[in-house]
Amino acid sequence: MTDKPDFPPLIDHLAEHGWAVTAELLAPSTVAALTEEVQSLWANAAFKAAGVGRGAEFQVRANIRSDHILWLDETKLTAPQTEYRTAMDTLRRELNGQLFVGVQEMEAHYAVYPPGAFYQKHLDRFSTADERIISCSLYLNPGWDEADGGALRLYEGENPIEIYPHAGTLAIFRSDAIYHEVLPATRKRFSLTGWFKRRSLRP
Ligand code: OGA
Ligand code: MN
Repeated sequence: MTDKPDFPPLIDHLAEHGWAVTAELLAPSTVAALTEEVQSLWANAAFKAAGVGRGAEFQVRANIRSDHILWLDETKLTAPQTEYRTAMDTLRRELNGQLFVGVQEMEAHYAVYPPGAFYQKHLDRFSTADERIISCSLYLNPGWDEADGGALRLYEGENPIEIYPHAGTLAIFRSDAIYHEVLPATRKRFSLTGWFKRRSLRP
């Protein structure tokens, strides 16, 4: 394990601004193992074009998002995925302890944005589902340079915030409240995004 982030200020920042960022939750060895895993999965063509909407409303809309995704199989997590889930579970307990958000579950997918791919400004709540509470994007790009582009742009207050996808950076934000977009990059951009969920309030 790496040095744990200092959770109270991290979570205070999330409570105050709707987003926060840390590079300290995941051990560097876990980030390296996830990076190797996502690269080999991508090379083996295991990804699908991402879409928008859920269930019957799902559609591939490359004018809205043009990334490729692979959901983690919760019943068959690999060793690095298990390390990731253990670290995310620490964060989950801290969120519940400090903000009383009552998040119980997580769903997560790897994403690859080929050069030029993007995801237009959106919220992470589907109109048909209210379970997603907190979004968490972990970046898996060693040696990323800001000139490569590919920032996550968060809309909060007057000036948008741009977070670059450096390996080990974890961006967390409210799924229901923070509009955000992924800007195109000049090189392939790898990430692992998870959503903390409450059980659905809908019947
Ligand atoms: C998403 C998303 C952000 C990122 O998958 O919904 O907004 O930085 N991802 O990859
Ligand atoms: Mn999103």
